Order: sequence, then structure tokens, then C-alpha cells
Amino acid sequence: MVQHLLNNKYKKIKEKYKIYQDTFFSLIKDKLYRLDAALLDEICMFLKGSKNIRSIVLIILALANGTNIDNKILKLCLITELIHNASLLHDDVVDDCDLRRGFATFNKKYDNKFACLLGDYMLTLAVEEMLNLNCARIEKKFNNTINQMCLSEIEQYKNRYKIISLEKYIQKCIKKTSLLYEASVYAYCSLYKKDYSIAIKLLRFARYFGIAFQIKDDLNNLVGENKEKPELNDIKSGIYNSNVIFANYDYPDLINKTENEYINIIKNEKYTKKSVELIQKYIKKAKKELEILDNKSYKEDLFTIIDMFML
Ligand code: FPP
Ligand code: MG
Repeated sequence: MVQHLLNNKYKKIKEKYKIYQDTFFSLIKDKLYRLDAALLDEICMFLKGSKNIRSIVLIILALANGTNIDNKILKLCLITELIHNASLLHDDVVDDCDLRRGFATFNKKYDNKFACLLGDYMLTLAVEEMLNLNCARIEKKFNNTINQMCLSEIEQYKNRYKIISLEKYIQKCIKKTSLLYEASVYAYCSLYKKDYSIAIKLLRFARYFGIAFQIKDDLNNLVGENKEKPELNDIKSGIYNSNVIFANYDYPDLINKTENEYINIIKNEKYTKKSVELIQKYIKKAKKELEILDNKSYKEDLFTIIDMFML
């Protein structure tokens, strides 16, 4: 019932902001014009499958702060989504993943080399747009973000099959996911000269929302019903989520169990409940930072989006 209501609300939000999504999509399509027609079609299909959560959130945050959605904001969305999608092309290679957004990944359809090259190309387009902004602070912020995203992937790869502490896990979520949300919010606040007191809250919102988002994404891989990505992919390749960390408190020898025993333990509702509580903790913190927004309607839309993604 709650889910049904939320779904309806979310549908209306998608309609309300469709115009921005469409403009944004044509920008990204134009940006990719140098690719041949067949490949461009495939990439567009891949991009269309995205919920573009990063750009939708940025657009609503800007509207809620009295900013008209102009080309500059849309360019920030473009940079953010190009970086995000480039990172996913690489991530699917690293994770040896053959399904994303319900379709075969580029590494599956073509091969790893091709997927990496496409990711590299997207990244150069993001950099090109970044340089067009002509703002060293923003360039630095995005560059540092990409740098940290890469470092966290390197660390995650090196630490496969190791159960890390909850603190380290949260730090990983920040680097993998929050920092890109933060960079787009930072760029917006910089370009539109937002007061420090507002900027700091929006940045904190981005941080907490990113953490909750990543914990939820990791949890979905274990207990989610979403068939857009392969189930248990992370767990089987030694990338552990919060359920594993909580289960390890009760079972210090967890890592030595057989795969079936191990999966049964970590799927236990007790650990999922703890993970959901952890997500809720960060959602609460994220929403609290948005209390400063005066516009009730935009604030409600943001809250609906947050709740929708955390279902
Ligand atoms: C998804 O994680 C992946 C990321 C959040 C970041 C991946 C970053 C890199 C591969 C470094 C290279 C970065 C760039 C910008 C080229 P996940 O595997 O937990 O999520 P999933 O379920 O969506 O696969
Ligand atoms: Mg992955």
C-alpha cells in the first residue's frame, strides 16, 4: 500500500521533471556525436535505462534554491552522468558482470577492452565539459572525486574476500558514491554563489544520501528482487556488504564456511534488519539537512525520491 502510493507519487515527479530529463538527454546524445550511428544507438539505449538520479536530485535541489534550470546546470548534470556511466562501464569489467539495467553489458556484448575504451572516451567528454566551465575549483573537485573513486575500487579489489570494519565500509561508500553527488552539489554552489551556510548543508545531504544509496545498492545484490543486475555477484566475488559485517560479529569464522552456509547466514533477516536500520539512519540524516529548504513542494519531491530509492 505504502509502496503503491510512493510509486504513484514518483510517477508524477518523473512527469513533472520530464522536460529537464529530455533536454539533458539530448545534450548527452549530442556530446557523443563522434561515435558511429550504430554504437551511438546502443549507448543511448544504455543511458536511457538509467534513472539519472544524480541529475534529477541536482535539478530539484537547484530549483528548491531558487535557481532557474539553465544550460550551466544541465552541463553539470552532463558531467556528472558522463563520469557515472564511464565508471559503470569500467565497473562491469572489474566485476565481470554481464547484466546492467536489464540488458547485456558492453563487456558481455563486445569484450572487456571495448567496454574500457568506451568508458575512457566518456570520461574524456566529461573532462572536456569540465574545462569549458573555466573554473579551477570545480575542475579540482571533480578530478579529486574521480581519483578517489578509482582508489576505492583499487582498495576494494585488493581487499576481496576480506571482511572490513563498518567504519571502513562507510568510508568506501563515501568514496564510491557520495563524492560524485558532492562534486555536483559543490559545482552548483560555486557557480551560483550560494551562501556557505546553505552549501554546507547541501553537501552534507549529498554525503548522507550517497552513503544510504550505496548500502542499499549493496544490500539489493543480496536480498533484492530487482532483476536488472545479477544476484549475488558481489558476494560471490568477495565484495562484502553490511549484512556480512553484521553477521561476522556473531560468526567470527564466517569466512571459513562453505558458500551455501555462508549465504544462508548472511541472508538472515536479523542482519538485513540491521542493514535497513543503517540505511534509515543515513536517510534521516540526509533529510534533516534538507530542512532548510523553504519550498515545500520541491522538498517533498526530494523526500519522495529518497524514499523511492530506499524501498
Ligand atoms: C558501482 O559499484 C561502481 C562505482 C560506484 C564506482 C566504480 C569506479 C570505478 C570502476 C573506477 C573508475 C572510475 C571512472 C570514473 C572511470 P558497485 O559494483 O557496487 O555497483 P553496481 O551494483 O551498480 O555494479
Ligand atoms: Mg558492480
